[in-house]
Order: sequence, then C-alpha cells, then structure tokens
Amino acid sequence: MRTLNVDLGDRAYPIYIGQRLLDQPALIARHVDAGQVMIVTNATVAPLYLAPVEAALSGRQLARVVLPDGEAYKSMDSAMAVFDELLRLRFSRSAHLIALGGGVIGDLTGFAAACYQRGVPFIQVPTTLLAQVDSSVGGKTAVNHPRGKNMIGAFYQPKCVIADMGTLDTLADRELSAGLAEVIKYGLIRDPGFFDWLEANIERLLARDPEALAVAVERSCRNKAEVVAADERESGERATLNLGHTFGHAVETGMGYGAVLHGEAVAIGMCQAADLSRRLGWLDEATVRRIVGLLERARLPVRPPAGLDADAFLEHMAVDKKNVEGQLRLVLLERIGRATLPMAVDTATLRQTLTGYGRG
Ligand code: NAD
Ligand code: GLY
Repeated sequence: MRTLNVDLGDRAYPIYIGQRLLDQPALIARHVDAGQVMIVTNATVAPLYLAPVEAALSGRQLARVVLPDGEAYKSMDSAMAVFDELLRLRFSRSAHLIALGGGVIGDLTGFAAACYQRGVPFIQVPTTLLAQVDSSVGGKTAVNHPRGKNMIGAFYQPKCVIADMGTLDTLADRELSAGLAEVIKYGLIRDPGFFDWLEANIERLLARDPEALAVAVERSCRNKAEVVAADERESGERATLNLGHTFGHAVETGMGYGAVLHGEAVAIGMCQAADLSRRLGWLDEATVRRIVGLLERARLPVRPPAGLDADAFLEHMAVDKKNVEGQLRLVLLERIGRATLPMAVDTATLRQTLTGYGRG
C-alpha cells in the first residue's frame, strides 16, 4: 500500500492506494471514530463492495442508502434521500458518511456531508479509475442542476481516501477509458514526463496491467494532491484541472446527463481546447495530433457530438463556474505540460473551433 498526503494543515488527510484495501477492516475502522455511520452507494456497487465495508464497521449503528446508478442521480433529490434517512435515524453531528462508488457517489455524498447539520465527517472509498485519480481527492463536492453541471456544491474535504485498486477489476472497459481521460489531463496540464510515459504505456493500462495502473493512479493522485495543497479554493492553479471541462460540461448538459460519460466529455473538450490553443498560435498541428492521438488510443471519443452545434455549445458554456460576470473564460494549453489559467477568448476564434474542429 502507498500513502500520499494532501497537505492542508489541520485538514490534511491521507490517500491510501493499493490492492485489497477493502479486505483490511482496520484501515477503514481506524478513520471512523463514531458510533453512527451511513454508507452511501449505488445499486451497481452495493452488491460488489458493500459487504466488506459494512463488515469492517460491525458493532456500530450502520445505515445505508443505495441510490439508483447514473449521473442523472447526482441531484438534489438524491441528496434529500440521504438527509431524509439521516434524520429518520436521528443521526447526530458526530455521525460519519462513507462514499462507496464512483465520482457520482463521491461528489453527492461529500455534498450531503458538507450540509448535514452544517457538516459531518466523511470518507471517500472510490471504486472507479476516474474517482481514484481525481474526484475523491481535493474536496470538490456537488450535485448537478438541470441547467449546469456541479452548480450546487461546496468545498469540503474528506477525512481520508481509500483507493482499493482491486475494485477496478469489475469496472467496464468504457469506464476505465473514461478514467484515463483525467489521467492524461495531468500530463497535459503539468507533467510532461507523465504524458510521455502514458504514450509509451497506454496499451498496458487498457490491458489493466496492475503495475502500470498503480503508476498511473499514484502519479495522478500526487499531481492532484500538489495542486489542491497549493490552491484549495481554486483562486489560481487549481483551475487548470478544468482543462477541457467547460467544453465537456456543455457536452454533458447538452446531451442529457449520462448520455456521454464525464471522462468522455472531458476527452472531447481537451481536444477542442487543444484545437483552440493551436488557433491562438500556441500549439502546432503535430502537437494537437499527438494529444488527439493519445486520447484515441485510450479508446475515448475525440469529436463533439453531431447533435450539439456551436450555438448550443455557447449557450451551455455560458453556465460555468470559471466565468466572471458573464464573460466566458477557458483553460487552454501553452504546450504539453503547461496549461494557462482561465482566460477570455475572442468569440470568433472560439466559434472556429466549435464549427471547425471534428466536424464533418
Ligand atoms: P460514476 O460514478 O457514474 O461511475 C461510473 C460507472 O461505474 C457507474 O455505472 C458505477 O455504478 C460503476 N461502478 C463504480 N465502481 C464500479 C466498480 N468497481 N465495478 C463496476 N462498476 C462500477 O462515474 P465516474 O466516472 O466515477 O465519476 C464521474 C463523476 O465525477 C461526474 O459527476 C463528475 O462531474 C465527477 N467528478 C468530480 C470531480 C471532483 O473533483 N469532485 C473530478 C472529476 C469528476
Ligand atoms: N476536478 C477539478 C478539481 O478538482 O479541481
């Protein structure tokens, strides 16, 4: 097992990464100094991984909320279902929540933990690659609003992250690829050596080579932990983690939550961001091809959906947390390994990307 630290002073916490961590009851139990514990999970993950987590916490007052599966359930209604159960059971302020699942469950549970009685501790047990390399670390919690992704939320850090890589054995190939989009993102925004490594090892990752996956998860978490420690509340560098996300969120909202996976939408968005960076004179065509090529090799979509035209993109991109007073701001690439901070972009050039890149 590897342990990384998210260095946030009195809110610092460990990220445990390894195989068979859910079979180590003491690891979870050590971080739950409460008699009342609620595990939030979904109907896909519960039959696979709920039992060992419950067993680790036996002897406590245990509750569970098993939500339906899907991005569409990262909603206020789901948060209310968690609050309803916490109140029905008279769970107090010392109760702990455990998020057992992918990024949907992690974001939603963290949000519920941040709100319930103004904040109760929670633990992230991520079970998708995407959640292990990105969403479980850093304390961004949220639910979606029909008008925009993650628009209702809070910064709220977990007590620890337990990333059992053995859980990836049951993950669908498409979900593995979706997680690789966020892995590739770290190479693009701040770790060019990692990008080179990914180009050399992408087939091993797709084949689920355990050593390669361990490198990818650990290096991604290290990058994420460094960014979060430097800029927890996104006043600077943290925004670079949103490379491709403004385009990507437009794809997710525009196509209906769940139609295109988050990681897939981010892959499309990173290609659009690379194309726009080329139009602005920062990237050459060969570099854009390199970026698109790696994402394609990771079996990710790299073209915007035909059903979403430039006007629809612009309408959805207008609802984004990086925008300031109505002005759209985008994270772009200066080169592989260096992203810009969010910046305003000339609308005509943006339209060229929206109409020109990946169409036809
Ligand atoms: P997800 O949570 O929907 O999980 C993907 C699918 O895999 C689901 O069907 C789920 O039930 C299933 N699953 C989970 N673990 C499994 C396992 N071990 N075996 C088999 N199936 C399993 O999606 P995701 O890609 O994990 O997360 C996407 C969400 O994360 C989005 O809502 C996105 O906005 C959010 N996100 C948040 C942050 C953050 O910083 N908070 C960062 C990136 C993404
Ligand atoms: N995934 C974006 C962030 O954590 O800031």
